[in-house]
Amino acid sequence: MMREFASVGVVGLGTMGTGIVEVFARNGIDVVAVEVAEPALERGRATLTGSTDRAVAKGKLAAADRDALLARVDWQVGLDALHSVDLVIEAVPEHLDLKQRIFAELDRVCKPEAVLATNTSSLSVTEISVATTRPNQVLGIHFFNPAPVMKLVEIVRTVVTSAEVVADVEGLCKRLGKVDVTINDRAGFIANALLFGYLNHAVSMVEARYASREDIDAAMKLGCGLPMGPLALMDLIGLDTAYEILDTMYRRGGRDRRHAPVPLIKQMVTAGLLGRKSGRGFYTYERPGSPVVVPDEQTPAGAESTLGAGVRGITKVGVVGSGTMATGIIEVFAKAGYEVVSVTRGAEKSAKLFEAVKTSLNKGVVRGKLGEADRDAALGRITWSATLEHLTDVDLVVEAVIEELSVKKALFASLDEICKPGVVLATTTSSLPVIDVAMATQRPADVVGLHFFNPAPVMPLVEIVQTIRTSAETTATARAVCADLGKTGVVCGDRSGFIVNALLFPYLNDAVKMLEASYSTADDIDHAMKLGCGYPMGPFDLLDVVGLDVSLAIQRELYLELREPGFAPAPLLEHLVTAGYLGRKSGRGFRDHTRR
Ligand SMILES: NC(=O)c1ccc[n+]([C@@H]2O[C@H](COP(=O)([O-])OP(=O)(O)OC[C@H]3O[C@@H](n4cnc5c(N)ncnc54)[C@H](O)[C@@H]3O)[C@@H](O)[C@H]2O)c1
Repeated sequence: MMREFASVGVVGLGTMGTGIVEVFARNGIDVVAVEVAEPALERGRATLTGSTDRAVAKGKLAAADRDALLARVDWQVGLDALHSVDLVIEAVPEHLDLKQRIFAELDRVCKPEAVLATNTSSLSVTEISVATTRPNQVLGIHFFNPAPVMKLVEIVRTVVTSAEVVADVEGLCKRLGKVDVTINDRAGFIANALLFGYLNHAVSMVEARYASREDIDAAMKLGCGLPMGPLALMDLIGLDTAYEILDTMYRRGGRDRRHAPVPLIKQMVTAGLLGRKSGRGFYTYERPGSPVVVPDEQTPAGAESTLGAGVRGITKVGVVGSGTMATGIIEVFAKAGYEVVSVTRGAEKSAKLFEAVKTSLNKGVVRGKLGEADRDAALGRITWSATLEHLTDVDLVVEAVIEELSVKKALFASLDEICKPGVVLATTTSSLPVIDVAMATQRPADVVGLHFFNPAPVMPLVEIVQTIRTSAETTATARAVCADLGKTGVVCGDRSGFIVNALLFPYLNDAVKMLEASYSTADDIDHAMKLGCGYPMGPFDLLDVVGLDVSLAIQRELYLELREPGFAPAPLLEHLVTAGYLGRKSGRGFRDHTRR
């Protein structure tokens, strides 16, 4: 017989605790909500009232249901109030000694058959459980933030947790409408083990002034479809909590340097910049607890209007190349009203390229996104050429030829001879150092990376890569052009992987290492990232789409340039590529696509 769990206790009513109270009360379960003192209790109550009032205002919850929900919660100071609940979930700050003390006390207060759970993100559930006399009734129930929204729950069993208790809690999670994955007790479990290295890396980019907070966040949202950028997520998690999680993962998880908290995090915590909950973290919020970002000294109101300063006028654009990226980029510029000169290596290639651009524009017409007259006007703006000499009077050249440094350098040397002074020379390289290309010319200040994403007409993001020689005017011009194309241009330094690939691929590689270590299955890992973090695809889904060979090549580049031991490609990834399992394109990668 499955245990019922008619009443639960929640200890600690901060970011997570209040959300967890709401999850239970919404599902008809009585909750005893416990804090250490009256003011914190009041804060928790106010957060829950605010959250449920917003749900009513948005029409997501009936007023009567809100009232019933609130009536199910019994607010109490002190653990003694938990004497008769069937299950307790602890959500106090991430400190082992504090949690152990609370568990010892819960063991004394709660009835013998009660199940005791921790919401810890990174601490050892086993170490917490041995503070009680009933470690077989202790487990981790790890909710995700915000708890009422995120579907995933990680259930963490220790070597002594009884199978019956795990099954009972799995049943409870289903009743709460959650999807659970049950795993063993390892630092960071699935989702945080894959998430926090990425978050810490993003913070290191801010600390090094590699890119701005807004640009890093926009890059990951628009380049990967993530629901929020890493710095906004740090603010949501809380920087104090994130610090403790990283610190614990570093110590428990084999001292991986990527988990050693970036010093900036500690400084911000010391300065009271904890994120949303304190009204200020990486961003500034309307007031403590509010999700609304307001302008601050880093980005004052009206900052965008200065974009026009020092920008060169661009009306005519050369695009060199005839592959997938060149095709998309030609279309993007022509549709935005620029005169385009396309240069390929021969008339035959130009003819094919013309057909490809026309076909793509026609698709837009069929889908009702582009009028026939606009299509014709766009095509009319393009000149098709097989000689670089036709680029003498363009204002901007975008190079999208094969990803080989010698070829790109030779091309830039020729452009340097042919193009007029003041032209912006851009490369779309996704992996080569832009400075190498720039130094093939006598005008490195005019050279910039413009990293479009595939398919260029659809993807809203462009990474603008400035080398140590790129002038501020060139970068400002690149930003203005991207804005004019309707794209978001994010500016970053000239390092392997720029922003998106540098943050994305190590995470994918870590997922492969986790699978290789048999900690979990590809399905559960994909689930965890989709349902726990709101990612549009899980890592194995994505690896199969991107291609395992492409992913391995990018990861190797990152490893070679940054010499970070944690970036070493996962042996399993190398083996799959050697075996010809390249993903969807070869019919098999992490999954078999021939039978789907
Ligand atoms: N923030 C996240 O995104 C997130 C996500 C999943 C899990 N977690 C985990 O949840 C736990 C709580 O994190 P948080 O972010 O909600 O922290 P928080 O700092 O927002 O809230 C902690 C609350 O615990 C209360 N508290 C402290 N000592 C107490 C005691 N002795 N008795 C009762 N209450 C006490 C504090 O007053 C505070 O309200 C941590 O273990 C954390 O790792 C956090």
